[in-house]
Amino acid sequence: MKRAVCPGSFDPPTNAHLDVFERAAGQFDEVVVGVLINKNKRSLFTVEERMQMLREITADIPNVCVDSFHGLLVDYCRAHGIQAIVRGLRAVTDFDYELQMAQMNQRLSGVDTLFMSTSPEYSFVSSSLVKEVATYGGDVSHLLPPVVEERMKARLAEEQRA
Ligand code: PNS
Repeated sequence: MKRAVCPGSFDPPTNAHLDVFERAAGQFDEVVVGVLINKNKRSLFTVEERMQMLREITADIPNVCVDSFHGLLVDYCRAHGIQAIVRGLRAVTDFDYELQMAQMNQRLSGVDTLFMSTSPEYSFVSSSLVKEVATYGGDVSHLLPPVVEERMKARLAEEQRA
């Protein structure tokens, strides 16, 4: 059984993430989308909300499941028999940090990281930029799965009322 994890914050999940999940699912028997629990980082959505959106947008990919983790990613990999970490790479600007993490994770545990080039139509997409554009009323509908767009609009409207 070849099992991989696609780890991340996914606040919120975007079409770029979904593209990586779909393609990773074609390469592995099972792909776990792992949401990092990070109590120190302010997020738009709770971990449970993000997991729910991830479950909905991956519902038609049978070998993808969604989970959360805290602590070291490699400990999660060890505990769940995961042999590989899959990360999307958008541009060279991602590379330094991603390479450093990959090498650290490899040294700590022997778990390898496989980089997947982001599809060109999503190479400029990040969760933080999508949130910023949406906050100021920009149209991000082509960058998010419809269910995510709907919940993000609702959450931003709630925040603006508060
Ligand atoms: O979506 P992100 O925020 O870019 O994902 C970053 C993530 C979750 C992959 C990374 O922060 C991570 O693996 N955190 C878990 C803690 C850990 O293992 N840190 C050591 C990394 S070498």
